Amino acid sequence: MDTQGIENTARALVEGDRGILALDESSSTCNKRFAGLGIPQTEGTRRDWRELIVTTPGLGEYISGVILHDETIRQQKKNGTPFVKAILDAGIIPVIKVDTGAQKLAGHPGEKITEGLDGLRRRLQEYSQMGARFAKWRAVITIGNGLPSRACIEANAQALARYAALCQEAGMVPMVEPEVLMEGEHDLERCSKVTEDVLRTVFHQLHIQGVTLEGMILKPNMVLPGLGCPRQATADETAEATVRCLLRAVPAAVPGIAFLSGGQSSELASARLNAMNVRFKTRLPWALSFSFARAIQQPAMEIWHGQGAKVKAAQQALHHRARCNWLARRGEYTSAMEGAGS
Ligand code: G3H
Repeated sequence: MDTQGIENTARALVEGDRGILALDESSSTCNKRFAGLGIPQTEGTRRDWRELIVTTPGLGEYISGVILHDETIRQQKKNGTPFVKAILDAGIIPVIKVDTGAQKLAGHPGEKITEGLDGLRRRLQEYSQMGARFAKWRAVITIGNGLPSRACIEANAQALARYAALCQEAGMVPMVEPEVLMEGEHDLERCSKVTEDVLRTVFHQLHIQGVTLEGMILKPNMVLPGLGCPRQATADETAEATVRCLLRAVPAAVPGIAFLSGGQSSELASARLNAMNVRFKTRLPWALSFSFARAIQQPAMEIWHGQGAKVKAAQQALHHRARCNWLARRGEYTSAMEGAGS
C-alpha cells in the first residue's frame, strides 16, 4: 500500500481554502429534486445539469474535489469530452461515491444500513482506472424515540471501516461519511451526544480495520438541533457544539473534516462553517471544510429550471455559493455577501 501517496492525496483535498462539491445524488434522488422544481426527470436532464456544474467558469478557484455518482463518472459533455477530463482540466479532483445506498436494517424499524461492500474491491479498481483518487461512502443515523440503536451505529461503523480499508488497499483515499440526520425534534445536546457516540464508534472500527487516519477525510454532520426542535441554535452555538464534539471524538491525525449540509439552507451552512473557522481555526488539528450538495446546488438549480437560456445565470449562482463557502473556510464570510450575486 502506498501510504505516503494516500496521505498526500488526502491533504491535497483539504489544503488551501477550497472545498468539495457533492454531485453524487443517485438518479432517484436527483429526480426527486428535479420533480420539486418541475424539471423533467430524464437521464438527459441529469446529464445537462451535471455538465452545467462541471463547466462552471472558475469553479476550480473554490472547489478542490467533485463527488460523482456511478452514472455521472461515465457521462460526457455534449461535445464528447468525458466529465472526468473536464473536472481534471478545471484543476479539480474527481471523487466517486461507492456505496450502493441505505436499506432497511433488519430487526430495527426506522433504521438503515448502507450497502455496497460486495464486489467493492473490483469496482474500486475500475474507478481508479477512470481517474478517481477518492471515494465516498455515506451511512445514515436517525435520532428518534429510542433511536439510534447500538446495532445501527455498530453495523454502519463497521461497514464504513471495511470500505475505508478497501479504498486504501486500492490506493484511494476514503471519505468517511457518518450522517446523523436533521429530521426530528431533538435538541442540540441530543444531536451532540449521538454524533459523539457515532464518531467514537466509527474511529474504533477504523482502528480495528487498520485504516491509516492520515489518509482519510471525515465527512460528518454539523451538530444541530432537529428540524422540528422549537429552539434552533445560533451560528455561534452550532460552532461551539460541533467543535466540542469533534475535539472529543476525532483523532488529530485526520487531515481534514468536510461537513455535509444535510438540508440546511445555503446561507445557514455558510454562516455556521464561517463561525467555526472564525472562532476555532487556529486552535484545531484538522482543517474544517465543506462537502456540500444541496447547500451549493440548490440556488443554481432553482434558477436553471432545465432551461438552456438560464445556464449562465445558474453557473453564476453556483460560483457564488462555492466562493461563499471558500470564504467561510477563511472565516471571511458575511451575510452581506448574499443577494449581491458576487
Ligand atoms: O451524501 C450526501 C452528500 O454528499 C452531501 O449532501 O450536502 O445535501 O447533505 P448534502
